[in-house]
Amino acid sequence: MRDPVTLKTLKAMKHRGDPFACLACYDATTARWLERGGVHVLLAGDSAAQVMLGFERTIDMPMEYAILMTAAVKRGAPRTLVMADMPFMSYHRSVDEAMGNAGRFMTEGMADVIKLEADETQAGIVDRLTRAGVPICAHVGCKPQTSSVTGGPVAAGRTSDSLEQVVRDAQALQDAGAVLLLIEAVPDEVTARVMEIASVPVIGIGAGTACDGQILVVNDLLGLTDHPPRFAEPVSSIGPEIMRAGKEWVSRVRDGSIGGQRYSMRAGESEKLGSTSKESATKDATKPNT
Ligand code: KIV
Repeated sequence: MRDPVTLKTLKAMKHRGDPFACLACYDATTARWLERGGVHVLLAGDSAAQVMLGFERTIDMPMEYAILMTAAVKRGAPRTLVMADMPFMSYHRSVDEAMGNAGRFMTEGMADVIKLEADETQAGIVDRLTRAGVPICAHVGCKPQTSSVTGGPVAAGRTSDSLEQVVRDAQALQDAGAVLLLIEAVPDEVTARVMEIASVPVIGIGAGTACDGQILVVNDLLGLTDHPPRFAEPVSSIGPEIMRAGKEWVSRVRDGSIGGQRYSMRAGESEKLGSTSKESATKDATKPNT
């Protein structure tokens, strides 16, 4: 069994130039298998709103579900660093509300780190949370929670102004105390600049190979997503496999060929039954497979 992955582990890996693997994951069973596979970080991401709950947008992620899901992932993978994703509007209205909600993720959700989508204007919140003992991963670049403003998820840093903005955001949030940075959907030039200024480990998604760690939604990795993002590279094809298993079950149920070990009554018990029950039990046993 490996040692638990902590922030110290990730910092040491960054310094050794040893990339670490992260996945967004939403339940205890998948988390258990991913920990067995050696994944270092699991994010109980707000992408669960789409992947698990069938919403169109991540902003529909319910707070209570997010907390339960984070705890489930941690229970499934106790030796993995588990990050919780703060849902839309759970840290924007006031610092007090941000503190209260982040506290719930740390205690009820058993999160090791809290991720929030932020820009330089939110450095104050990161500063307050960090001082209170909440380790923050600042998510910069493309921020899916702001998709309604941009008209859909868009890559960031494709102009020099936008590149400078992402770098300023990363710098300000790191200065405010963020212990990890996550950059999403940016060109290599942006990643290179962020890596230059980053003293904390940087996780990338669609941000090239220069980052210290890489993250993907587990459903995209497993081949469960109908239209995965362009940067997702599935390594399995579980979707069609689930469909095949479903078809197989339908046909076994329909032709009466369900197998498995069945139950029999304890010795002497069936003799105590009235004749009607005995007859129907015999009829059931001799029913043709239709
Ligand atoms: O919620 C999520 O899945 C994310 C990504 C970075 C993977 O935020």
